[in-house]
Amino acid sequence: MKILVTGGAGYIGSHTVRQLVRSGAEVTVLDSMIYGHPAAVEGSGAKLVKGDLGDASIVYPLLVREKFDAVVHFAAFIQVGESVQDPLKYYENNIAKPLTLLRAMLLAGTRKFVFSSTAATYGVPSQMPIPETEKQDPINPYGGSKLMLEKVCRDCEKAYGLKSVFLRYFNASGSAGDGTIGEDHDPETHLIPVILQAIKGERPGITVFGTDYDTPDGTCVRDYVHVDDLADAHLRALDYLMKGGKTECFNLGTGKGLSVKEIIDAAEKVTGKKAPVTYGERREGDPPYLIADATKARDILGWVPKYQDALQIVETAWQWANGPHGGHY
Ligand SMILES: NC(=O)c1ccc[n+]([C@@H]2O[C@H](COP(=O)([O-])OP(=O)(O)OC[C@H]3O[C@@H](n4cnc5c(N)ncnc54)[C@H](O)[C@@H]3O)[C@@H](O)[C@H]2O)c1
Repeated sequence: MKILVTGGAGYIGSHTVRQLVRSGAEVTVLDSMIYGHPAAVEGSGAKLVKGDLGDASIVYPLLVREKFDAVVHFAAFIQVGESVQDPLKYYENNIAKPLTLLRAMLLAGTRKFVFSSTAATYGVPSQMPIPETEKQDPINPYGGSKLMLEKVCRDCEKAYGLKSVFLRYFNASGSAGDGTIGEDHDPETHLIPVILQAIKGERPGITVFGTDYDTPDGTCVRDYVHVDDLADAHLRALDYLMKGGKTECFNLGTGKGLSVKEIIDAAEKVTGKKAPVTYGERREGDPPYLIADATKARDILGWVPKYQDALQIVETAWQWANGPHGGHY
């Protein structure tokens, strides 16, 4: 299989690239490197093309020349807060630029598309755990941009026969167990790397937003899904499309909630150090629980996440934080 991976020099993309290459696929990464890291791709066996998704002068010839069997699309901006401050930046990068990619796919005859969607498309859900049938009503432009691209792809199935899989990730976490690639966002807003950076003394401390939620320990509960399990789901989604599967969406989560306090406890156990934590007020727009019902991914893709435990997940993140890059490329 010849696969194009957009955003493959980022966190989840680089883990997926590794698994794809190991499975025997011929992989090309297209990444503008705005947030990507060359070292996340080097040595993976994939070819790296530096270019923007919206740049037709790069994207059209690349797709027409290479005639990829499928495109796996990670490239996007991902910060919820920033999307509220600057929605056009998100609509441009996460909706408008992918249209150039989709056009190029049609021109090249590539009609299989796996797309990184998100639990943020559900907004404030009415049921927990959340099935794919839950109403999608995002509460920020980031989630809105992902939902819009899902809609675009559904229309493209009807009009051009493009088959897509939307993988709605919950909280991506952890890193490849060997510590050589991992999570390095700038700014970093995700709980596990932020706690580990605080424990390492790279930031003064962390603030936990809200301790009075209606949850067992009062802190928010999320579904942390390991990045290697996410990568595995992409391989399964490609296999599903190669076998003639129609456009589908799948939640990717463990189905198990972990509270902020449980993650902090796990980080303290794994590192043997106390985390410098301050407890603050609730943050607007944070629902108390976000947990996936991922039964559909299990039933249709045969996807069962291997990492189910906070300690296991945090351990791999700690290996990255202490690996050859020290947690930063
Ligand atoms: N990290 C999470 O918990 C999470 C949860 C749900 C969904 N997602 C989605 O998964 C995908 C990957 O997330 P991540 O955490 O790996 O992010 P990341 O920032 O590490 O990776 C995104 C990559 O896309 C590249 N990119 C961005 N815009 C581009 C453009 N216009 N052209 C070419 N390259 C571009 C960046 O340089 C970066 O390497 C995103 O689409 C994100 O919305 C992530």
